Amino acid sequence: MSFEKGLFDGFETYTLKNKNGMEVTILSIGASVISALVPDRDGKKRDVVLGYGSAKGYLNTDAYFGAVCGRFAFRIADASVEISGKEYKLTCNEGNYTIHGGSENPCAMTEFDYKSNTDNSVTLTRFLPDGENGFPGNMTIDVTYTLSDENGIRISYFATSDKDTVINLSNHTYFNLDGHASGSVEGHIMTMNADTFAPIDENIMFYGKVVPVTPVFDFRKPKEIGRDINSGDHQLELAGGYDHAWTVRTNGKTPVACTEVYCPESGINLTVKTNSPIVHLYTGNYLPGNNTAGKDGTVYVKRGGFCLETGFYSNCVKFPELGMGFLKKDEVFDYETEFKFDVK
Ligand code: BGC
Repeated sequence: MSFEKGLFDGFETYTLKNKNGMEVTILSIGASVISALVPDRDGKKRDVVLGYGSAKGYLNTDAYFGAVCGRFAFRIADASVEISGKEYKLTCNEGNYTIHGGSENPCAMTEFDYKSNTDNSVTLTRFLPDGENGFPGNMTIDVTYTLSDENGIRISYFATSDKDTVINLSNHTYFNLDGHASGSVEGHIMTMNADTFAPIDENIMFYGKVVPVTPVFDFRKPKEIGRDINSGDHQLELAGGYDHAWTVRTNGKTPVACTEVYCPESGINLTVKTNSPIVHLYTGNYLPGNNTAGKDGTVYVKRGGFCLETGFYSNCVKFPELGMGFLKKDEVFDYETEFKFDVK
């Protein structure tokens, strides 16, 4: 195991390597995962995460490659939220809603500070002032990335606030298990251990109803991501593909395996484990986005990567009966997700 600091266009990076030669690099901007070199079935390493060719991409992203989104990942309808009986107006940075925490110093596009490391982990920290983007409470977020010798990257989130507030932290890494520049991921085979999912409206907004999986959202048996993606299903048409959350069978404490994705070409298999109550699949429907300058000169194609974002349902704070997305003063937010790679 080893830890090394480096620089990317003048911004700090942190690289963790394990005994198998698996290597993951995190950038200070957005605490973003900018590369993950994973051995394929022939032992050849492939970089399985999408990224930008320069820091400029990360500073002005609309695709949110690799980034930690906060303080509230996903959408909040009407850019407003009621917390402990008081209405808060938020910054509106897409349509008429707030996405991934708003427009003022978004977590995803600003630097986290280095806090500490061990030989297989690094902790970055970010302070979000009271009132920024309209959210109440000075908030401190610590994100720890830990690499195991079993080729797992664990992301642990730890946050507190000095006022009642809302929170939803997620990592927005796009994976392509065939290699980041290999085109569409529609041929990857996914298994989702979930009986229910969250339909969306025309703003890709969760509207409070969780329902049993319909056939196109049923991945309880392994199925190609792309098998039904162009089927004309209304839910898929609203988002141009999958941009939906599934319910994770967790008690909120012990991480469980919620999703597996297998790439027949490389043999690489990804297992996602989390103690978060949902996992949101986004199939890169809006790629390449405004900034098309990907790493290694790549221009990513539509559906050239998939994100499996754990956390709470998008817009869940509009449905307090779900009990998700609120953080009380001095309460501790503590969740973790592991992305583990094997070969088959
Ligand atoms: C959202 C997508 C959005 C993407 C990039 C995802 O988390 O669900 O709708 O386009 O982030 O912002």
